Amino acid sequence: MSQTPPQTPAAEPMEVWLTVNRVDYTLHLAPWTSLLDALRLHLGLTGSKKGCDHGQCGACTVLVDGRRINACLTLAVMLDGREVTTIEGLASGDTLHPLQEAFIEQDAFQCGYCTPGQICSAAGLMAEGRATTDDEIRELMSGNICRCGAYPNILAAIRQAMAQQARQPMGEGR
Ligand code: FES
Ligand code: FES
Repeated sequence: MSQTPPQTPAAEPMEVWLTVNRVDYTLHLAPWTSLLDALRLHLGLTGSKKGCDHGQCGACTVLVDGRRINACLTLAVMLDGREVTTIEGLASGDTLHPLQEAFIEQDAFQCGYCTPGQICSAAGLMAEGRATTDDEIRELMSGNICRCGAYPNILAAIRQAMAQQARQPMGEGR
């Protein structure tokens, strides 16, 4: 005897308040919408990249309340009232973030697809203040995969930005 499976009612969109790159937004999202899809599809902020969509490549890394997370693994509705910073929000007007300058100066990208996630992750790493050696930087950046293999230059760029931060804490004079 066959049975008809119970019907699941379609979920109503949920209202979510997010501050993204210093701008307040009210969004109406299906409860399963990832932060990455909310940013890219609903806000048009396509700087954060979708690589694996499974938490394995780091291309989608953004900052939530200053801490780096994988936006593909995070439901947007869980971030009600939180502050999100994407690669689009790191620069200050026409002034690039020191990490962005360092990535350019150190030639730290090839195809560039991983770069927004690398830079956001590096910003989070620097804010954490736990990495002092090259090995510690490599370990704490290990969630960000670069298939082009630009790792030596990425490391050099992060070291450059860290040295600049040591001379002048980021945010000062910017
Ligand atoms: S797209 Fe999120 S970790 Fe790969
Ligand atoms: S620069 Fe191509 S994947 Fe990183």
